[in-house]
Amino acid sequence: MSLSRFSVTGVRNLHPVTLSPSTRINILYGANGSGKTSVLEAIHLLGLARSFRSIRLQPVIQYEQPACTVFGQVELAEGGSSNLGISRDRQGNFQIRIDGQNAKSAAQLAETLPLQLINPDSFRLLEGAPKIRRQFLDWGVFHVEPRFMSTWQRLQKALRQRNSWLRHGTLDDASQAAWDRELCVASAEIDEFRRTYIKALKPVFEQTLSELVQLEGLTLSYYRGWDKEKDLSIVLASSLHRDQQMGHTQAGPQRADLRLRLGGHNAADILSRGQQKLVVCALRIAQGHLVSQARRGQCIYLVDDLPSELDEHHRSALCRLLEELHCQVFITCVDHELLREGWQTETPVVLFHVEHGSITQTHDHRE
Ligand SMILES: Nc1ncnc2c1ncn2[C@@H]1O[C@H](COP(=O)(O)OP(=O)(O)OP(=O)(O)O)[C@@H](O)[C@H]1O
Ligand SMILES: [Mg+2]
Repeated sequence: MSLSRFSVTGVRNLHPVTLSPSTRINILYGANGSGKTSVLEAIHLLGLARSFRSIRLQPVIQYEQPACTVFGQVELAEGGSSNLGISRDRQGNFQIRIDGQNAKSAAQLAETLPLQLINPDSFRLLEGAPKIRRQFLDWGVFHVEPRFMSTWQRLQKALRQRNSWLRHGTLDDASQAAWDRELCVASAEIDEFRRTYIKALKPVFEQTLSELVQLEGLTLSYYRGWDKEKDLSIVLASSLHRDQQMGHTQAGPQRADLRLRLGGHNAADILSRGQQKLVVCALRIAQGHLVSQARRGQCIYLVDDLPSELDEHHRSALCRLLEELHCQVFITCVDHELLREGWQTETPVVLFHVEHGSITQTHDHRE
């Protein structure tokens, strides 16, 4: 799966533009503030209907413009293509179009255009709150397990109901017990999906990591959000009083986490910045392999400022792994000389020069 064309209007400082990227490696280079990250942001909008720099979309819309719009043609894994469009105006009106139809949710975009983002904020996957790691985990499960979404919605509904009951006690106890049963069933299913996913991810992650950097003893493990020896129903019953005091349910899949540890420590506390970046890259590349294995298409990788924090050896190791994914990759950098060498001769590499919001395709340096 790849983006064969995309058009951007009204995104940050970018002049309206239509690009025809390579199906494989695309390098966007240019000075600070020229608009490289904005191009990745436009692709991200198309795949997820949201910005990666801010929760609000308003700052993405170009000053003085009424709206931002991105269109893209996606070549699908099963053959044929799909046309996606997203538009958002200053009043907050949103439109998502898939093949000429209005789409109901952004999940449909995510399914058509699975994106993996690696940017200078990515270390948050290790350092940040568990929610960020759960989102990472669930992104993977969503893309390989077709039943995930509906179970997830059931879980959210049952959880909202229980939390509201804890706070307001509006429902009688017998009816709430039925909701709790639903909560436990959905939780067990989500746990099973996540566990199966992590089991598949772990060896691929370990292999990928070993090709990127030597970090002997780094372990990845999964915490399901409640005592692994006990049924969730038992845990809920025993923590009822405290849940009522807090006004929300404390145990369950909404508290799951991934743990990365090295020599008995939280990996985020001891790894250097560059090592953290490589661990995050290994996690994201491993996810890409799993999506490909599930034969539901391939991810598109957005790698913002690839060379930063990496020495030459690790930079080329990362490029090699991205190339071996056989996916479409968009890389930004200030100095493309750093990424000139090392690509296989048969891999199509296209360079784009970004200057003051204008983008020009330059020749493949090897031609
Ligand atoms: N809503 C907006 N409208 C117009 N311009 C904007 C808007 N938001 C940001 N900008 C400008 O867009 C420019 C491009 O930013 P971008 O982050 O894409 O640059 P970059 O090429 O990635 O730079 P760097 O190499 O520093 O990462 C910046 O100069 C920024 O001030
Ligand atoms: Mg940038």
